[in-house]
Amino acid sequence: MAIFEITAENIVRAADLLCAGGLIAFPTETVYGLGANAFDVHAVAQIYTAKGRPSNNPLIVHVADMEAAVGLVSRWPDTASRLAEEFWPGPLTLVLPRGDCVPDITAAGGPTVAIRVPAHRVARQLLEAADIPIAAPSANRSGEISPTTAEHVYRSLGERVTMILDGGPTTAGIESTVVDLSGDIPRLLRPGPISLARLSAILGEILLPHAPSDMRSSLPSPGMLSRHYAPRTPLEVFDSSDLFAHRRRNLRAEGRRVGILDLSGRNVPQVEAGLYAAMHELDADGYEHLICLLPPDTAEWLAVRDRLTRASRPHSPAQEDRL
Ligand code: TXA
Ligand code: MG
Repeated sequence: MAIFEITAENIVRAADLLCAGGLIAFPTETVYGLGANAFDVHAVAQIYTAKGRPSNNPLIVHVADMEAAVGLVSRWPDTASRLAEEFWPGPLTLVLPRGDCVPDITAAGGPTVAIRVPAHRVARQLLEAADIPIAAPSANRSGEISPTTAEHVYRSLGERVTMILDGGPTTAGIESTVVDLSGDIPRLLRPGPISLARLSAILGEILLPHAPSDMRSSLPSPGMLSRHYAPRTPLEVFDSSDLFAHRRRNLRAEGRRVGILDLSGRNVPQVEAGLYAAMHELDADGYEHLICLLPPDTAEWLAVRDRLTRASRPHSPAQEDRL
């Protein structure tokens, strides 16, 4: 078993593995990451292989502080300082013009690099011990739900990763907010734990993510393809509680084993924190079908709705007819 408890010795061991070109999985406050030395092209190539990740999807580079982040870019705008001062360390990733020191493979050959300073104690200890920038996508096979426990990592990647540091369940529960600062006006690329309202308070104007159809052609953030973060069991999501109830009745009448992803009675951070854990659990429970009533279509629920919509199978008109 590749899961290791957090001890000073295991942190040093993980750091040594990273410096020697290996892969390790570690907790951050959002989801577990699959890390490699961001400057080592062979090590980074292993991340893509282990995840089965398309080579056009760039990685987030994790660093210890703002100074280290500035060293990775060719231009550091004032907006980056303002966001970093407010939200780092924390669940915010900034996309900035790429510095020459960042290899092509880490940035998937693009002109920008995504950077984040994580807040999790274990991630910080690892960055300090290894003293290198760590490229780390979520520690799951490409297209699957992100891991929020060491066990989830093991279930998805198995022995592809030699060492998984077990820091317990993550607290934010969904992936970091990604903001692109490489253009004239900041753009939200991926909603996340740092809300749009908090970003707007610092930035003023901020553009919203491209619609999925735009992405297919220009790929501004290739990981944001419309279907992503999906459980293995088909999931359907509903905006209307009537349609949700109707569908539940019909599926049960057909004799299907229906699992319900119930988000009611909790606030936004609580739902975000438990979202993937609940999906992992339902997925493991052997249901034939999962259904979920979406939270309201308001800015505060943007990230939750985004992840649920991506995790769901699109409704075909034929399906709507059967409701
Ligand atoms: O919370 C997180 O961000 C976690 C933890 C481990 O830090 N990491 C994570 O990484 O979610 P990943 O690879 O699963 O998602 C990174 C996202 C993808 O949508 C990717 O396309 C986008 O960030 N991204 C990375 N580099 C980019 C770049 N240069 N320009 C635009 N988007 C980028
Ligand atoms: Mg991911």
